[in-house]
Amino acid sequence: MGTIVQIKNVDKKFTIDGEQKEILNGIDFNVQEGEFVSIVGSSGCGKSTLLKIIAGLEDATGGEILIHGKPVNGPAPECKMAFQEARLLPWRNVYKNIGFGLGKDVPKSERDELIKKYIDMVGLKGFENALPKQLSGGMQQRVAIARALISNPNILLLDEPFGALDALTRINMQREILKIWKQENKTMILVTHDIEEAVYLSNKVVILSERPGRIKKILNIDLAYPKVRGSGDFAYYTKEIYKEFFADNEQEVEYAI
Ligand SMILES: Nc1ncnc2c1ncn2[C@@H]1O[C@H](COP(=O)(O)OP(=O)(O)OP(=O)(O)O)[C@@H](O)[C@H]1O
Ligand SMILES: [Mg+2]
Repeated sequence: MGTIVQIKNVDKKFTIDGEQKEILNGIDFNVQEGEFVSIVGSSGCGKSTLLKIIAGLEDATGGEILIHGKPVNGPAPECKMAFQEARLLPWRNVYKNIGFGLGKDVPKSERDELIKKYIDMVGLKGFENALPKQLSGGMQQRVAIARALISNPNILLLDEPFGALDALTRINMQREILKIWKQENKTMILVTHDIEEAVYLSNKVVILSERPGRIKKILNIDLAYPKVRGSGDFAYYTKEIYKEFFADNEQEVEYAI
């Protein structure tokens, strides 16, 4: 298992209202092939921006991204990103939106079976012909996840993909993502607000500070899969992350858990 993504001292500034604002500062970590990494941090700390920089959809102001040792300059073909907002094509139905994720060179005979497989996986059987506006926010999110998964990239970048889902669907989707990750040996980089979700899914959690996002801590989650949410070890890691958010204030950490 080698290093697949190197995030080297990445800085990002945006000009907002004519003023340069520092968004990310000195972000530096590696992702190993087949690793599941989560990025957590408060709203506005630059998580989505960081994912876009990794995917080559946004330029860094300083530092660089390497994938398989090569600098990323422009959209990285190894990566597929499921955006925070579903970004579906409004005039295309569920079937076609998901099919859009398939490359042109996938033969027609295989397309239909693949699309149906992913529609089923995200629980949208029966909605093949629905347009995005006829779907709930969570259903749209599931279409976006299926569209990213079907393209079978080496590296999947998921930006709060389960944010709009109810608790039960969320748990099912988390299981599906883990299944795909294991079976197809993908590298996953996930942004989430949900600390339990980060512990449940990942090998490694990168905790960012408030804006400008800096790395506060990188926590390796040494738990075997499938992880047991109610276990003491699970609670230990959750607590370790909350400690970073509440500056080690025991009382606040106890309230949070
Ligand atoms: N294209 C842009 N132009 C100017 N400012 C931007 C742009 N994109 C993001 N920002 C700013 O950068 C900061 C970080 O945004 P980003 O979307 O990365 O945050 P985030 O951590 O993903 O937040 P959330 O958890 O709410 O999704 C915000 O202050 C935002 O206003
Ligand atoms: Mg975001």
